[in-house]
Amino acid sequence: MDFIELCKRRFSARKFTAEAVSPDDLQYVLEAVRLAPSACNRQPWKFVVIQSDEAKAKIQQCYDREWFMSAPLYILCMRDKERNWVRGDGKQHGDIDVAIAVEHLCLAAADKGLGTCWVCNYDVSKVQSLFARDGYEAVAIIPLGHIAADCPHGEKIRKSADDIIEYV
Ligand SMILES: Cc1cc2nc3c(=O)[nH]c(=O)nc-3n(C[C@H](O)[C@H](O)[C@H](O)COP(=O)(O)O)c2cc1C
Repeated sequence: MDFIELCKRRFSARKFTAEAVSPDDLQYVLEAVRLAPSACNRQPWKFVVIQSDEAKAKIQQCYDREWFMSAPLYILCMRDKERNWVRGDGKQHGDIDVAIAVEHLCLAAADKGLGTCWVCNYDVSKVQSLFARDGYEAVAIIPLGHIAADCPHGEKIRKSADDIIEYV
């Protein structure tokens, strides 16, 4: 599969089977995360693998959607607020860094035939209180699992290249 095929294969999976993610597949996606680039190579991030029943019950309180409950595990992706690179004009780059690592995760999962979905519309105060980590803030929650046969899978709707690319 070439890279464009992989990009097409990844989609927002919103229904999973109960099958566990194998330790090998989990390590594969986490290695893709670890290899992601970051501004000044600060690597200002932490990835919390949420797989115990107790921790899953907590994260499921943070995003109240039926499909979200079906995931066998979740990865809470966090930004290190103290270590992320700050440009001269004050712009913090941690969200960008974490986003790159998260998309590595999603593409690596797709490479293994697994499903993911970016979730940012979670209850911020609940995540902050249930998953407090000193100096860190949540950026995204990624459910990870085997895609259910009846998982909704719409067509890829994207702007045309003409609309978004300018050659000068
Ligand atoms: C930064 C970001 C935040 C997102 N947050 C959510 C979310 O909270 N809930 C959700 O169901 N989908 C969320 N999505 C998924 C998008 O809706 C989805 O990626 C987009 O519609 C394109 O569809 P595709 O991923 O299937 O190609 C998010 C995606 C991104 C990149």
